[in-house]
Amino acid sequence: MDFKNLTVVNHPLIKHKLTIMRNKNTGPKEFRELLNEITLLLTYEATRNLPTIDVDVDTPIQTTTGQMVEDKKITIVPILRAGLGMMDGILSLVPNASIGFLGIYRDPETLKPVEYYLKFPPFTENHYVFIVDPMLATGFSIKYAIKKVKEFGVKNIIVMSLLAAPEGVKNVEEEHPDVKIFTAAMDEKLNDHAYIIPGLGDAGDRLFRTK
Ligand code: URA
Repeated sequence: MDFKNLTVVNHPLIKHKLTIMRNKNTGPKEFRELLNEITLLLTYEATRNLPTIDVDVDTPIQTTTGQMVEDKKITIVPILRAGLGMMDGILSLVPNASIGFLGIYRDPETLKPVEYYLKFPPFTENHYVFIVDPMLATGFSIKYAIKKVKEFGVKNIIVMSLLAAPEGVKNVEEEHPDVKIFTAAMDEKLNDHAYIIPGLGDAGDRLFRTK
């Protein structure tokens, strides 16, 4: 399946780490560390087109012009709770980013998102917002998060996930064709409970050992 705005970051290290994460015997410590490492590698790709500004810099020899990212105009929005597992990976490359929290749970009957917490920093129109959730499954939570961020006038929105299902990417792309999606792998499909298959199970439970 071809998706215009989707980048599957194809790298042997990502594949290796993801295979360990899929293994049901991998415990929470290693799972968290690997999610952190893969997020860092995804961030490298997802930030490739960030604008830079010219700045003067004094080297020990002379003054020259360097380029810097305006990292104070970058916000990470982890979708609670599994999105928290991707926050540090981005912060290690963009340490001055601000964080906006969005708590959403999936209604078990309708599978639709229900908001229970929102705390965003002040956005400017030219902010770059990275919405992160390890599992892009139905796409409903991501679509909800994009809608919320857009309500603040933000135009540059990037989604990062660890795994994606075709149904979810299609759902997001149809409503938000302006949003770029970066993921480590595109899996086969969703099962009847909207879990990604083959997937890795419930990312939140595996991160926080809640089952
Ligand atoms: N959320 C998860 O944690 N896992 C899935 O497979 C789908 C949604």
